[in-house]
Amino acid sequence: MHAQPVTAPLHSLDQWDDAVRDRYDPTRSKDQFRQFNEDTTPPVVREFYRQNHQFQTLEFVLGKHREYGDLNLGELGIWEAMEKLNTLVDDSDPDTSLSQIEHNLQTAEAIRRDGHPRWMILTGFIHDLGKMLCFSGEPQWAVVGDTFPVGCAWSDKIVYPEYFAANQDRYQPALQTKNGIYEEGCGLRNVHLSWGHDEYMYRVTRQYLPEEAQYMIRYHSCYPIHREGAYAHLLDDHDRVMLEWVRKFNPYDLYSKSDTRPSLDELRPYYEELVSEFFPAKIRW
Ligand SMILES: [Fe+2]
Ligand SMILES: [Fe+2]
Repeated sequence: MHAQPVTAPLHSLDQWDDAVRDRYDPTRSKDQFRQFNEDTTPPVVREFYRQNHQFQTLEFVLGKHREYGDLNLGELGIWEAMEKLNTLVDDSDPDTSLSQIEHNLQTAEAIRRDGHPRWMILTGFIHDLGKMLCFSGEPQWAVVGDTFPVGCAWSDKIVYPEYFAANQDRYQPALQTKNGIYEEGCGLRNVHLSWGHDEYMYRVTRQYLPEEAQYMIRYHSCYPIHREGAYAHLLDDHDRVMLEWVRKFNPYDLYSKSDTRPSLDELRPYYEELVSEFFPAKIRW
């Protein structure tokens, strides 16, 4: 294992979310930026991606599956996790940045306003709780970031593909072919994605939620697949149906941010009931 960086480049995990939102901002002309070769991404976010692409190897991901896969960190209720995550100290401006609970509530409330089913509102509310990984000492690059398949060639549709030059999987020819360790059309369930809050939360919640919700949670950061259409050769028919739900979910995650802060006090009874409809008082993490 190579030495891991001690720096945590992002001031807050939200800085990554903000960068994704900017990248896919529908009001911004992508071509215009490309043309002038102007990258407006903050240097700390670029540094974050550099670390992410360097250290997310197949071996690293399989190690995290072994480490977290059995959910033996302990038991915690959804609300306890939500409140714990809200204590995450970050350097960002408290006047303009939303707390984790507020982002979760805004996502869920936007889904609710559009009349979607209760399980989808709940999914909006809990989709980012996997960021609890922070409290297990995981570096930022192993908690957030656009996810991508490991164990096969990197797509140039992944943001900053040039940073994979420093990834050790580069030197394993078996991991550098189009399909790598996978079979064509094997289905996403057989593909290992870079490790982060998505895969972790999927594992924590999968037994309690409908499959559409599991896809939303597991793949919501996989922009190369659900947004850029990369890795189509690894998908199966079932994925193609289910990914539509991930695409349906994505705008609520990206664009529900508003200046009006949701009132937790007012909304709490509704969400307490919703959480208890699907989850027992404590679940394994
Ligand atoms: Fe997320
Ligand atoms: Fe989110």
